Amino acid sequence: MSRIVYLNGAWLPEADAKVSIFDRGFLFADAIYEVTGVVGGKLLEYEGHAARLQRSMTELGITCPLSPDDLLEVHREIVRRNALNEGLIYLQISRGTADRDFAYPKDPTPTLTLFTQAKPVLDNPKVATGISVALLPDQRWARRDIKTVQLLYPSMAKMEAASRGADDAWLVEDGFVTEASSATAHIISKDGRLITRPLSHAILHGITRASVLDIAEEAGIAFEERAFTPDEAMDAAEAFITSATNFVLPVVSIDGQPVGDGKPGPLTLKLRALYIARKTASAI
Ligand code: PDD
Repeated sequence: MSRIVYLNGAWLPEADAKVSIFDRGFLFADAIYEVTGVVGGKLLEYEGHAARLQRSMTELGITCPLSPDDLLEVHREIVRRNALNEGLIYLQISRGTADRDFAYPKDPTPTLTLFTQAKPVLDNPKVATGISVALLPDQRWARRDIKTVQLLYPSMAKMEAASRGADDAWLVEDGFVTEASSATAHIISKDGRLITRPLSHAILHGITRASVLDIAEEAGIAFEERAFTPDEAMDAAEAFITSATNFVLPVVSIDGQPVGDGKPGPLTLKLRALYIARKTASAI
């Protein structure tokens, strides 16, 4: 079934939405993106995604062509036009189209696109089994806090993980885990503490991560924001990833070594249930 997508103010069948070969998103990966989860036709954590989008735009000097209210309306409209019940909205803003030049063009008109992807995010079969991850070197650029579309290395890492029989990659830099290829990495120590890397330029500032820390605090689960090593992760009681569409997803093996008893951990599943209850209740 053909989707209706958004391109610079127009609603178009997906086959008719065309962007110039001179678009800087295409030539330089000069573009940023957001992925917002949708459950029951409503947007999850919209405020957080909109705030991070603004932060990425500010970092790169890109101006959103829509006001905050209009941007929210476009999100709601794309859900309506595609009768999207469960899945995600992908949004991308590139700096725009200009003749190829490394220097930014003057007064460019940004290219704003949105499309939907329908998928069952609540009944993810991986929740029951957990996922396996392979450890790979983090070879991404040094400003991972800006959510750019430079996703070639994460794609390569995912392919390499798959070739090793794993579901995903956890990336390692200077002896510490940074994050997963497209999600935040967390562990639970044997004394029941949630350990997650602090915010910096080394990782994307996950919207789900922030909410899970709030929920952990309210649920009386102690947490520490500090980097952890692959050895500490392999020796942890539980491990999990967080992201807009995976919510909280158990990791049950790292480089072939079981984490804990090799099954999804109880605190991980508790955090997932609390997260889904809380965020579907406040979806807009
Ligand atoms: N990825 N770290 C990286 C590198 C990511 O790409 C993502 C999200 C996250 C989690 O962020 P959040 O909780 O705000 O979704 C962490 C999205 C889902 C993607 O690229 O599809």
